[in-house]
Amino acid sequence: MNAPEKLFAAPEPHVMKTYGRLPMALSHGRGCWVWDTDGKKYLDGLAGIAVNTLGHAHPKLVPALHDQINKIVHSSNYYLVPLQEQLAAKLCELSGMTNAFFCNSGLEANEAALKIARKFGHDKGIERPEIVVYESAFHGRSIATLSATGNAKVQAGFGPLVEGFVRVPLNDSAAIENVSHGHPNIVAVFLEVIQGEGGVRPATIDYLREVRRICDERGWLLMLDEVQCGMGRTGKWFAHQWAGIKPDVMPLAKGLGSGVPVGAVVCGPKAADVFGPGNHGTTFGGNPLAMRAGVETLRIIEEEGLLENAARVGALLKRGLEEGLAGVAGVTEVRGRGLMIGIELARPCGVLLGRAAEAGLMLSVTAERVIRLVPALILSDDEARRMVAILVPLIREFLAEPP
Ligand SMILES: Cc1ncc(COP(=O)(O)O)c(C=O)c1O
Repeated sequence: MNAPEKLFAAPEPHVMKTYGRLPMALSHGRGCWVWDTDGKKYLDGLAGIAVNTLGHAHPKLVPALHDQINKIVHSSNYYLVPLQEQLAAKLCELSGMTNAFFCNSGLEANEAALKIARKFGHDKGIERPEIVVYESAFHGRSIATLSATGNAKVQAGFGPLVEGFVRVPLNDSAAIENVSHGHPNIVAVFLEVIQGEGGVRPATIDYLREVRRICDERGWLLMLDEVQCGMGRTGKWFAHQWAGIKPDVMPLAKGLGSGVPVGAVVCGPKAADVFGPGNHGTTFGGNPLAMRAGVETLRIIEEEGLLENAARVGALLKRGLEEGLAGVAGVTEVRGRGLMIGIELARPCGVLLGRAAEAGLMLSVTAERVIRLVPALILSDDEARRMVAILVPLIREFLAEPP
């Protein structure tokens, strides 16, 4: 499976060709292991792109979801949904925020955040509100979220883009100060605490604190996209908690339902009352099945100490990679926190997706040259060591080849 062209083999003539897929399909999984339809076994370093928080077929999650399906899957937001209140209360307890709105995906959570920022501006009499966004950011593929995204490839072909965004480089607080002088209508700063698709690039602790200070000083909302880096992945419930700050708005998705689609936007007091009845909504959002998946995911993370596990095993994995790749020419950096790790190479390495699969390891390559590992939070020490043992020789061999 070394030939890169195999990435684009398309044995699905009726599925729209929006993805460059490997020509393989997974049939089932257990824990951090998955099997393809030919029976080949893989160690899962991807977890459905930071989604399968509890791994596959978790023995506590599966019966809970069965139980919920037997009761009710969907009811409608015309009625109270007690599981929404249960999940919202838990997210508020864990984040120190006050209210949550539920949707189905990351981009929807971000759309809600962008609408909150605009209405927050309108409520203050700002008719053309602007939002500070970032180079290399990724917020989704709806028209508004791709406009907020800092990647020309994602935007190409979809103009005219949504207006009202002001872009700055990450980790440069002077840039925000500067931009604010020419833009009196700024109402919010919107950033990923660790850029995921942009190449596992963390905002520094100092920078996060500085942005919080600037937002407080100017009355702006701080909106932290934790769709990828949140839900325990870095070893705290939310990645911004490493900086000891609190956002005003926090979109979540991916790991929140352990594979069942669910998104949320969690708000603090500055933003929680911006939406009133009729301002926002979604048919599927907050349905009982998705809410049960969220409630059980959080419960199991707590019960099994998975935050501590993510921090400890993540550090072991990172150290193993650093040691295995020390002094290898062409390795730019190993970075990340907890179980969100990026290995940046000096050249594009998309071919490693197929080669890793061939070697029995699931991973992804993002921003062309960054190998990304975002395994389930249940990863064991032994599994982390096996990941290192598969990945290090693959990277060494790849970098020994002529470019
Ligand atoms: C930080 C971030 N925000 C938003 C999204 C979009 O989420 P979704 O694909 O669920 O729409 C992603 C997806 O990768 C993401 O990483």
